[in-house]
Amino acid sequence: MAADRGQFSSKFGFIFAAAGSAVGLGNLAAFPVGAAKNGGAAFLILYLIFVAFICFPIMISEFGIGRSTNSNPIGAFKKLSKNNALWTKIGGLAVLTPFMISVFYLVLTVWVLGYFILTVFGDLEYLASVNAFSEFVSSPELFVYVALVLGVMFLILNGGVKDGIEKTAKILMPMLAVMLVLLVIFVLTLDNASAGLSFYLVPDFSKINGAVVSGALSQAFFSLSLGMGILITYGSYLSDKTDLVDSAKLVAIADTAIAFFAGLLILPAIFSFNPNISPDELSTSSVGLIFMFLPQVFMSMSSVIGYFGASLVAAIFFLAVFFAAITSLVSLVEVPVAHMVDDKSMDRKQSLIKVMSSIFVISILAIGSFGMLDFVTTLPGYGGAETKSFFDYIIDMFYETILPFIGFIVCIFTAYRWKFKGLSDEIATGNSTYKGSFLEKYMNATLGTIIPLFVLFVFISTVLRIYFNIDIIQMMFG
Ligand code: PFF
Repeated sequence: MAADRGQFSSKFGFIFAAAGSAVGLGNLAAFPVGAAKNGGAAFLILYLIFVAFICFPIMISEFGIGRSTNSNPIGAFKKLSKNNALWTKIGGLAVLTPFMISVFYLVLTVWVLGYFILTVFGDLEYLASVNAFSEFVSSPELFVYVALVLGVMFLILNGGVKDGIEKTAKILMPMLAVMLVLLVIFVLTLDNASAGLSFYLVPDFSKINGAVVSGALSQAFFSLSLGMGILITYGSYLSDKTDLVDSAKLVAIADTAIAFFAGLLILPAIFSFNPNISPDELSTSSVGLIFMFLPQVFMSMSSVIGYFGASLVAAIFFLAVFFAAITSLVSLVEVPVAHMVDDKSMDRKQSLIKVMSSIFVISILAIGSFGMLDFVTTLPGYGGAETKSFFDYIIDMFYETILPFIGFIVCIFTAYRWKFKGLSDEIATGNSTYKGSFLEKYMNATLGTIIPLFVLFVFISTVLRIYFNIDIIQMMFG
C-alpha cells in the first residue's frame, strides 16, 4: 500500500508543499486585519511568541505522527493507539474537519478568482462600488467559478503527491513571493505609506487584552494549518531521512514571513489613500478587507497610476491571493482523499472524484447561503444571533470550535498515548542532535502540560462565546 501513496521528492519539496498549505488567506487577509485592529507590532510579537512556543512543537508532533505511521489521521491515530476505537474516531474528526473547512475555504477561493477575473475584464470600478460585494456573492456566475476552481484542484491532486501537490507548490509559492514583494515595493513608494508603516510597526500594547491573546493563538493555529490532520497527512509522505525539526522551522518561518509582508503591503496601501483613517474604521474582518475595502483602495490608486495601472495592481494582488488559497485548498482536500486511498482501498482518482463531488454539493449550499437559497440562508441561530447561515454553521463548528479541539487532542495523544519516547525516536530519525537537546526538553515538558492547557482554554472560551454568548475572557481579564 505504501508504494501507492506517493512521497515528496525531497525535504525541500515537502517544505514547499507544507508552506503552500500554510500560506493562504490566513496570511494575506486575516493576519493584516488582526495586526491592524490589535496594536500593530504588539499583535505581531504576540503572534510570534505563539508560533515559536506553542505552534512549532505541535507542528513537529503532527509531522512525526504522520511519518511514523505512513498514514492519514484515521490510520495514524489507530496505529499509534493500537487500534483503540475512541482514538480512531477522533482521527475521523481530523478527516471530517478539513473536509468541511475545504467547503468554506472553497467559497472564499471562488470569490477571489471571481474578483481576479472581473478585474482583468476591467470591472475594478464596479468592484469598488458599495453594493458590489453583496451582488457578487449572490450572483449565479459563481457556479462557473466553482467549476473552474474544482477543475484546477482536480488537475493538481490527480497528479499525486510529487507531481501534483509538490510541483504546484514549487511553482506557485515563488511566484506568490515575487508578486508580494513587487506589490510591497510599489506600495511603499506611495505618498503617506509611512503612516501605514508606523501604524503597523510601532507596537501599541494597550490594545492587547484576553480576547486578542486568544484570537492571536487561533490565528497562528489556522495560519500554520495545524489541528486539521493536514500536517499529519503531509508528514506521512516523508522519508525517514527528512529532518522534521528543520522542516517545521522553515515552514513556520516562511508562513510568518508572508504574513508579515502582507501587513507591509496592506496597511501602507490603506493609509496612503486614506491618511486620516482611524483604526476603528479599518475593516473588521478579512472578508470585508479583501472584498470590500481593498477594491476601493486599488480604485483610488487610479488617480496616481491611471485606471489600467490600478487594475493591474489589483489583478496581481488577487492572483497572488488565489495562488496562496489554491495550494491551501489542495492540502485540505488531500486529507479525506488520503483516507479513502489508505483505508477504503480506492485508487487516487476514484477517491478524488468521490471527495470532490461531495465538496461540490455541499459548497452549493454554502454559496447559496448568501441569499440565493433561502433555506440555507436563514437557519436557526444560537449564542445571541437570531439566524445563522449554513456558511456560518461551518465556520463556527469546524473552524472556530473543532480546530483548536484537535490541536488539544494532538498534544494529549502525543504526550500520553504515543508518549515522548515514541515522539523522540521519530524526530531523532533524521535529526541526530535532537535527543538531549533543549528542544527535546522543552517539548517533553510542555506538550503534555502548558501547551494543551492553553489550547484548551481557547477552545472552551470559543465554545462559550459562540454557542452561549458568554465572554469568559472579558469576565476574567476585563
Ligand atoms: N493555513 C491556511 C491559511 O492560513 O489560509 C489555511 C489552511 C489550510 C488552514 C489548510 C488549515 C489547513 F489545513
